[in-house]
Amino acid sequence: MADYEAPELSHLHPSVRDTARLPANERVELIRADRWIGYPRAVEVVARLETLLCWPDKQRMPNLLLIGPTNNGKSMIVEKFRRGHLPVTEADRENIPVLCVQMPSEPSVLRFYIALLAALGAPLQPRRRLADVEQISLKLLRSTGVRMLVIDFTDRDLCCS
Ligand SMILES: Nc1ncnc2c1ncn2[C@@H]1O[C@H](COP(=O)(O)OP(=O)(O)OP(=O)(O)O)[C@@H](O)[C@H]1O
Ligand SMILES: [Mg+2]
Repeated sequence: MADYEAPELSHLHPSVRDTARLPANERVELIRADRWIGYPRAVEVVARLETLLCWPDKQRMPNLLLIGPTNNGKSMIVEKFRRGHLPVTEADRENIPVLCVQMPSEPSVLRFYIALLAALGAPLQPRRRLADVEQISLKLLRSTGVRMLVIDFTDRDLCCS
């Protein structure tokens, strides 16, 4: 069998040359995966989220509403920010600085708390009353040190609400 000849890749940026030499299936997988593009508006929003995360505790904490058409990159911005603040497992607890919750379709307060508990990794609470689920959620938010709660809606949720 003839020796495999590495293609001439001098036209590519050095940082991607190794990737271009990967086997075809690996390159296809990489092409299909999400990749963050830091366009100025998105970088600006991530910076605002960073500022909010560092906000000193006060009676009424500030918040941010991010609005844009569907497929506009809102969830990508949130995911980029979340990845910068991943949960840390400590000796006696999990520390979750940024908790992201996907608003359930046809939301109710109970379904929202159930989604929040799922995002916290809490076991399912079968047939619990709203007041109980609310209390458990607040307790877990405190014990896991959540500093920021991000609630992600899709366009469809807003249309239905
Ligand atoms: N910053 C980015 N870098 C790279 N790709 C992006 C970026 N923003 C958006 N995209 C691409 O656009 C797609 C849609 O983005 P995203 O899911 O964040 O939109 P959205 O605003 O949350 O939409 P919806 O309101 O429907 O939830 C992503 O799956 C991704 O492929
Ligand atoms: Mg989205």
